[in-house]
Order: sequence, then C-alpha cells, then structure tokens
Amino acid sequence: MLKEKLQKAIEVINRNDRGGFTIPTNKLYPHQWNWDSAFTALGISTYNKTRAWQELILLINAQWTNGMIPHIVFHENNPNYFPGPNHWQIKANSKTSCHSQPPVLASVILEMVKDGDDYDLKKSQSLFNSLIAYHEWFFSARDPNNEGFLSIIHPWESGRDNCPDWDLGLQKVNIPEDFEEYLRCDTSHVEVSQRPTNEDYDKFMSIVQYGKNCNWDPMNMYNHGPFLAIDPGINFIFLKANKDLLSLAKLLNYKNKIHKIEDWIKKLENGCQKFWNDKVKAFTAFDVRTNQFCDAITNASMLCLYAGAGTDKQKKYTIEHCKRILDDCVYGMPSLDPKHESFESKRYWRGPVWLIMNYMILIGLENEKEYLLAKRIKDDTIRLTDVGGMFEYFDPLTGKGLGGKNFSWTAAIFLKLYRENYDFQLFNN
Ligand code: GLC
Repeated sequence: MLKEKLQKAIEVINRNDRGGFTIPTNKLYPHQWNWDSAFTALGISTYNKTRAWQELILLINAQWTNGMIPHIVFHENNPNYFPGPNHWQIKANSKTSCHSQPPVLASVILEMVKDGDDYDLKKSQSLFNSLIAYHEWFFSARDPNNEGFLSIIHPWESGRDNCPDWDLGLQKVNIPEDFEEYLRCDTSHVEVSQRPTNEDYDKFMSIVQYGKNCNWDPMNMYNHGPFLAIDPGINFIFLKANKDLLSLAKLLNYKNKIHKIEDWIKKLENGCQKFWNDKVKAFTAFDVRTNQFCDAITNASMLCLYAGAGTDKQKKYTIEHCKRILDDCVYGMPSLDPKHESFESKRYWRGPVWLIMNYMILIGLENEKEYLLAKRIKDDTIRLTDVGGMFEYFDPLTGKGLGGKNFSWTAAIFLKLYRENYDFQLFNN
C-alpha cells in the first residue's frame, strides 16, 4: 500500500517531466514555475539526485543579468496557458515572466546538501554565486530604500495569487483605458468556483500591462506601479533562505560571504516588525499603496516560526492562532483563517490547504518544539493525499482534492515527508 503510493508519487512527477524540467501539472500549468520546481527537486532528490539538480540548474539558467530568477520559464510555446511568453515583455524577446516568486531555492539546496554527500556539495558550490545574485536582486529591487522588508509588485509574486491579503491593493488597481483584451485558459481546465474571479484576473492583467509599458523597470514598479504590498510569506521565506544560505557558505567555507549574509539576516529580522499587526496579534500583509494592514491571518502568517522571526510573545500568539485555526478544520493548515469573512473552502488561496505551505509550517512548529501541532500538520498532509489524491490543493473541511490533478509539488512533498518520517527502507526495495 505504502509502496504503491510512493510509486504513484514518482509516476506523477515522471509524467510531468518535460526533459530536464518538471511542469506543475498538464494543461493548467504547462511551463516551469520557480518555487514549484524547487520543491519538486526536493521530492526528486529522494530517489534521483542527478535529475533533481538538473531541475534546479534549468531554472537557475533562466536567471536575468540583474540577478532575478523569474516566476515562470517558458521553454516552449503552449496554447493552454495564459499569459504565455508573448504577453510579458515588449522590449525583449523574453522567454520568461518578469517578476519572481517566493525564494525557497537556497533552503531547498541546503536541504539537498544536508541529506547528500560530496556530489551534492559540489553541485551547490556551482550554484552558490547565482543564489547570492538572486538575493541581492531581492534587496535592490524589492527593498530599494533598505528598510529590511521586501514588497511585491504583483500578487503572483507572492505565490498566493488571489489570497485576501491582496484585496485592498487590488481594489485600487485601475483598469487602463487601452486595456488589452485577453482570454483566460485556466477556467477551461478547472472549475470556475475553484479559481480566481474574472475581476481579479482583470486586475492581474492590468498590472502586467503596466509592467510591460515600463519594461518592468524595478524602480518604476516599486515607486509608481499599480500594486505594492508587504507579504509575510515572501519575507519569512526570504529570511529563512538567507539563514540557509549562511549555513551553505559555512559548509563551503566561503568566509568572505559570511559577514554580508549575516548583515542581511539581521536587517530582515528587524524589518519584519513593520508587518506585525497588533490589532489581530499576527504578522499579516500590509498594502503599501493605501498604507493599511490587511487583517487576514493566513498560512503565511505562520511562517514566522519557519524563519525563526519575531519576539517570543509574537511567536506565542502565532502558535495560539495555529491551534485555534486547526480546531476549526478537519484538515490543516487552511490558507485563510476560517473565521475570516473572506474564507471559501474551495477557492484557491482563500481557504484550501496547500502541502508546500504545510511543509514549511511544520518545520517551524518543530523548531519551536511544538511537536503535537507539527504532528497534526504532518498527519493531515499525508491523510489529504489519501483522501484527495495528488491534487494541487485541498478543501480543509472535507479533504476533497481541488484544482489541477497529478500535481508535481504535492507528490514531491509527500515523498519528502515519507522518506523522513516513515519507512525509509521502502525506497530501497
Ligand atoms: C499558481 C499558484 C502558484 C504556483 C503556480 C503553479 O499560480 O498560486 O503559487 O506556483 O500556480 O503551480
């Protein structure tokens, strides 16, 4: 039974293999996505190291000269996805999207090195400078005033596309007069009720249009773009990635990099106080354009534990929210507090459970020695793949699998958790 499930997970990933890179799922997401590929590599590394590193190398090969690693790499044209390669940039023949995604790469690479041997260490060495350039890009393009926190220029950059965190900011996004007509593809693959609304999509595309018009100039986007928000998710993932980059620098004996990364960490540890929302006693998103907090407590709020950020008191509040929210669900961790007025158990990032978020949350809970809560999340993560299959996301009330099916990162997280916490021998049979 267990072995069959492991084989099924590997088959899901194999079926999504397009020759050196893995798509998240057929039709709905037919290209290479940034954090999907990183998590998928982590899963693949449990049974095929060479292929796992190849996944990361192909992603990192798409790095821009300014250091940015894009959120999508278009290795080929595919009519099933919108917006494809021709809809991003006007002044360059871009084969990538033009913003980034949560920077989990350094953390995934450290994990592969920790679990690996000399071969893995050598591979990480060849990618180290690209990681440094990627992190430098985040500081210069997304924190140009050196305040210690990053702001995203598009909801898609957060990886949590239509989360209520962005509602305030999206309300203010104007649809331009010369708005380019477009045709969504996603709703022909997945039920409309599980996807962002058309209104959201118009706003998403208005920001893309603005980006194209200024050739995605980071300063223009930051200072004048239609949308700018502080995302707790991306900030905590980045802080953790910097801590992991520091560990990697030490393992590789790159002494001259240590001081600089330590400074980055300090800066981010202080900077996160900007988005501690004292009204709801949690780290929440902050809309920079309207200068307002968003009051939603989400699975990204929990990532302060993953980053080891915040004061003891702030961590305690976060753990209390975590308990309370898990009590309200059959399967944790929902992407939004079920008590929040915008909660919808089936709609994308407005309620459903995502296994990649669970994976990071349980690492955080274990760091805080909250073993019972961590076990609850771990067990739910496994149960969800039993009840719902290897879907993109899951209903926290019923466990039903939603969105795209045969999803790479879901299979990858299953493999990663299975290998670590269950019967490792199964892999060798
Ligand atoms: C959606 C998700 C994003 C993910 C992508 C591919 O856009 O919101 O996080 O990377 O799908 O799976």
